[in-house]
Amino acid sequence: MKISVVGGGYVGLVTGACFAQLGHDVTIIEIDSDKVKSINNNQSPIYEIGLDLLLKQHTGNNLSASTSFDLLATADIIFICVGTPPKPDGSSDLSYIESASSSIGTALKNKSSYCCVVVKSTVPPGTTEKNVRPAVLKTSGKSEDAIGFAMNPEFLREGRAVEDFMHPDRIVIGSNDLRAGKQVALVYQGISAPVIHTGLSGAEMIKYTSNAFLATKISFSNEIGNICKHLGIDVYEVMNGVGYDPRIGPLFLNAGAGFGGSCFPKDVSALVSLAKDAGENPVLLQSVLTINEQQPHRMIALLLEKLGTVSGKRITILGLAFKDNTDDIRDSCAIPVIRDLLQKGARVSAYDPMAVPNMQQIFPEIEYCSCATDALVGSDGCLVMTEWPEFSRLDKEFDLMAHRVIIEGRRILTCNGVEGICW
Ligand code: UDX
Repeated sequence: MKISVVGGGYVGLVTGACFAQLGHDVTIIEIDSDKVKSINNNQSPIYEIGLDLLLKQHTGNNLSASTSFDLLATADIIFICVGTPPKPDGSSDLSYIESASSSIGTALKNKSSYCCVVVKSTVPPGTTEKNVRPAVLKTSGKSEDAIGFAMNPEFLREGRAVEDFMHPDRIVIGSNDLRAGKQVALVYQGISAPVIHTGLSGAEMIKYTSNAFLATKISFSNEIGNICKHLGIDVYEVMNGVGYDPRIGPLFLNAGAGFGGSCFPKDVSALVSLAKDAGENPVLLQSVLTINEQQPHRMIALLLEKLGTVSGKRITILGLAFKDNTDDIRDSCAIPVIRDLLQKGARVSAYDPMAVPNMQQIFPEIEYCSCATDALVGSDGCLVMTEWPEFSRLDKEFDLMAHRVIIEGRRILTCNGVEGICW
C-alpha cells in the first residue's frame, strides 16, 4: 500500500520505517526540513534502537521524507503522527492536529480514489470525529464516503519502539465505518497480534486508559515503597511477592524517583482535565500525579538528612534521561532534582551516557562530565536518577567522592553503602 505519515517525530518516524519494513511504500511528511534531510540521508534524527538499520535498508527504496503535503494525493492511507503537547492547564493542545487535518484535506482535493485518514497521535476522545473529520472534509470538499477515518493508537516505548511496533501486544483500530477499519487492519498484515476493533472514541480512550493505568501502578508502588521505607521493609521484595498474582502482574511495579517521559505525565494530566470538564473529580488520577511530583524531592530530603545542607557542596547526578536507552529528557525526574539543588546553592556535576546535550539546553550552568568517574571526583553526595545498566558496575568510583553518600532513585547499583529512595 502507499502510506503517508504526517509528522516525523518519535512516533511518525518509527511508524514509517516499520511500515516500510512490512513492504509498504512510505512517505513521511515533516515540516522541519533538517529532519527531512537527515531521514533522506539515512540518518535518524533521534536515537532509537534498530531505527538506523531500517532507514539504511529502506530509504531511497520504499521510504522517503518530504516537506510537501502535495504527495499525500497519491496515498491509500494517511497516518497523523503529530504532537499533542499539554497546555498550561494540562489539557491537550490540538493545534497541530487541526492544522495537519486541514493540510491533508487540501492535498486530497483532486484525489479520485478512496483514502483513509488515521489518527495515531494521542488525542482526547471525540477528536477524530469532531475535529479531524470535519477539517479534512471541509478543505477537501469531499463527500462523507470518499474518505474513511480511523484511530489507531500507538503503544511504543521509547528505546524499544521498533521492537514494540513489530511485536505488539495488540493492535487497536477504532473506526465508525467498516471499510476504514478493514483498510487499517490490512497495513498491519505480517504482524502477529490480536486486532481489537472498536469505535473512534473507544480507541482514543484505550490509549489514555492504558497509560493512566501503568502510571497508577508506578505511583502505587512508590507509595507502598515510601511506607515500606519507614517500616524497614524492602519494597522490591514486597512487589516481587505481589506481582506473582496474575491479577496484578509483575511489570511496572518498580518503585523509584517516579515516572517521566513524553507520555505518562502528559496523558494522565490530559485525562484529569477531561474528567474535570465532564464534571468529575478524578481523585485517584490526581493522586497519581501528586505522588509523582513529590517523589523526586524525596531524593533531596534524604540527601539533606545525610549532609545537613547542600549549599556550596558538590552534588553528582548520575542519569539525566527519563529512563535508560534514550537521550530523551522530557519530564525527566532529574529536572526537578537539579532545579531544587541549584536553588539550595549546590554545585551540580552530572553524567549521562546520552542525554547531556539535551539537558545542557535546560541547565547550561551545571558541570557536565564525560564519564561517571569525573562527575564523582570530590563529590559530597551522589543521586542516581536513571536506570542505565552501566551504573550497575560502579563501586570503587564512589571512593573518589569526598563523602561516600549515595542515594539511588532507581534500583540499579549493586555495590554496598547505598540508600534507596524508598527501600
Ligand atoms: C510509555 C508506555 O510504556 C508506552 O506504551 C506509551 O505508548 C508511551 O509511554 P515510555 O514513556 O517510552 O512509554 O516509557 P516507559 O518504559 O513506559 O517508562 C515510563 C517511565 O516510567 C520512565 O520514567 C520509567 O523509569 C518509569 N517506570 C517504569 C518506573 O518508575 N517504574 C516502573 O516499574 C516502570
